[in-house]
Amino acid sequence: MRLMTVLVTLTMLLSGVKATAESSIEAGKAAYAVCASCHGDQAQGNEALQAPRLTHLQPVYIAAQLQKFKSGIRGGTGSSPAAMQMAGIAATLADEQAMHDVAAYIVSLDNTPATVTVAGDLVMGGDYYNQFCGACHGAAAEGNPALNSPALAGAGDWYLMAQLQAFREGTRGRHPDDRTGKQMRAMAGVLPSEQAMRDVVAFITSLQQ
Ligand code: HEC
Ligand code: HEC
Repeated sequence: MRLMTVLVTLTMLLSGVKATAESSIEAGKAAYAVCASCHGDQAQGNEALQAPRLTHLQPVYIAAQLQKFKSGIRGGTGSSPAAMQMAGIAATLADEQAMHDVAAYIVSLDNTPATVTVAGDLVMGGDYYNQFCGACHGAAAEGNPALNSPALAGAGDWYLMAQLQAFREGTRGRHPDDRTGKQMRAMAGVLPSEQAMRDVVAFITSLQQ
């Protein structure tokens, strides 16, 4: 039984590695042309269009979110207009390979620091972060793919605020098949106030390289 589990895990790991190794940055670059109009030519994000920075994310997370958008698990009924817009674009990506390719291209771009726009109490924010967030997202907010938890350091602070809000309101993470979104939705509720959200977001942004 135990050996079986190990074997299955190994197979999953190996197939994951294989998918990454075979991702084509060249093909991804061509696919990214349509993305640049919202996310920017360096995937630096565009707050005016509510399109986030992408370069700090793990490729496996980018591909997983694209899959969710395409299937309507994210960006379906009851989602924000921004998420619905992104779902429409993800639907044009042919298959999983295309998602891995575009993800490989995105992470090959320069990861310049995000502009700071949210002010907060870094000491309070650090306390909240270490107590409620670090176990999944990592001590330096670098993310933990084994827990499906994305990197947060390097994200635009306005986007972190918007996503925390979306999880709290249930416009993100409400789909019955959104297993990982549900986990995060439960966590977004533990921050006691909007000020607490600002504090934790300011702290996360202070961790970016
Ligand atoms: C019309 C504008 C637009 C285009 C074109 C677009 N996006 Fe987006 N994208 C958005 C918006 C807006 C969001 C934020 C959705 C939300 O708030 O939930 C987003 C979110 C994302 C996310 C989620 C990031 C995260 O941290 O959760 C990924 C990944 C992404 N886009 C990748 C892409 C890729 C790859 C393409 C090209 C194939 C693309 N986008 C094209 C507007 C766009
Ligand atoms: C139990 C593990 C867990 C904990 C604890 C946790 N998160 Fe998350 N978080 C996740 C997962 C998993 C996702 C990805 C959700 C998805 O797949 O849509 C996520 C996504 C996010 C996102 C969206 C990022 C993006 O690029 O779209 C933000 C913002 C976030 N978390 C902030 C926080 C903050 C702040 C805390 C502490 C208050 C926290 N998380 C605690 C697991 C966790």
